[in-house]
Amino acid sequence: MANQIKHFYRLSYADRLAALAQQRKLTSEQVTTIKQNATQVSDSLIENYLTDYRLPEGVLPQIRVNDHDYVVPMVTEEPSVIAAASHGAKLLMATGITAQISERLVEGQIIVASAEYEQLSQFVTVNQVAILQVANASHPTMQNYGGGAKAVTVRQLDAAYCSVDLQVGVGEAMGANVVNTMAEAVADYLRQHDFTIIMSILTNEGSHQLVTVSAQVPVAQLAKAQISGAEIAKRIQVASHIAQIDPKRAVTHNKGIMNGVDAVVIATGNDWRAVEAAVQAFASRDGQYRGLSQWQVVDDQLIGKMTLPLPMGLVGGATKVLNLVTVNRQLSNFQTTQEAMSVIAAVGLAQNLAALLALVSEGIQAGHMKLQLKSMAMANGATPTEVPLVLAQLAHQQSINAQLVKVTIEKIRQTKGE
Ligand code: MEV
Repeated sequence: MANQIKHFYRLSYADRLAALAQQRKLTSEQVTTIKQNATQVSDSLIENYLTDYRLPEGVLPQIRVNDHDYVVPMVTEEPSVIAAASHGAKLLMATGITAQISERLVEGQIIVASAEYEQLSQFVTVNQVAILQVANASHPTMQNYGGGAKAVTVRQLDAAYCSVDLQVGVGEAMGANVVNTMAEAVADYLRQHDFTIIMSILTNEGSHQLVTVSAQVPVAQLAKAQISGAEIAKRIQVASHIAQIDPKRAVTHNKGIMNGVDAVVIATGNDWRAVEAAVQAFASRDGQYRGLSQWQVVDDQLIGKMTLPLPMGLVGGATKVLNLVTVNRQLSNFQTTQEAMSVIAAVGLAQNLAALLALVSEGIQAGHMKLQLKSMAMANGATPTEVPLVLAQLAHQQSINAQLVKVTIEKIRQTKGE
């Protein structure tokens, strides 16, 4: 086992890096890479900062949502994600995607050890106004933005524990800090009235932050060389049914949707783990994990619909600190959090349509491999000038593997050397 570096968190940036370089035997190139990617902003954001781990950012150039056209920044390392989103968005362009959000409330939980559900429930009902006042007094500015604590209810968890649920309007923020502050204030109030508090924290469950998106595409637009549009639409309907009945397929179906959703959530500087946790819980809300989206053929249209929670915000957290988030806000022109949620869900639906279309026709590998070829070429040692040569040489290959890429790079080098 390597010797532990003493008081690592107390060291200056330079000392931290030097100690790590020595302990882990980093090469001078590796140290340079770490330094080149380091920023002061990030150093002030997290503990034991080393460097910025960069991911590629691209844009989905056009997606129509609620009759507006958006440019959407997407952060992803997966080569096919933006291409698939663009394809799906194009297919859904004619009528566009409709998004609806009926409420946006973030909930806090105060877990109370109480065998006396009736007593706690009565206390909360009688003192509802006082509890909401306590919550709002702990974060008074929220009410200026039309937010603030709105409702408080009690649920019995089992014979020994209850949850006091506090619903809060959080303006344009994601709301974690606001709700945690309010939940702790309410916890103190309940403690003062002799209730035993286990903990108080927001819930990432997200059932009061749901977005529903729907869209349609004329089946004729789905036709592929050998297969009619009507046949492809029928197959997409079946694929969506399989994701409803088989959790194994549903996980992959939803992973495809999250390829798009997460890429935009990250570009907006939001907590994508919160979004993932909420979405995955929502996908199993009736006890079985199911696909989030459903596609159905109605007359000559393929109609898609999807509901998912999107706990996020446009202000607060890292959104203020990371300067690319500001650039991305300018690119997307999101004015409100609800607008961002609408577009993000729409990207997820477009992403899903493109994936299902590929899966039920030529299969995923044909498109994927073409897009992955660039990163495969680099991973197998091609220099930036060699990459286009490798792509040109392998463009018409049916199946590509690492060995073939290596041999092609070798051949290119030999030809150059001749
Ligand atoms: C790959 O990242 C995503 C897909 O597997 C999604 C799906 O199967 O629906 C293609």
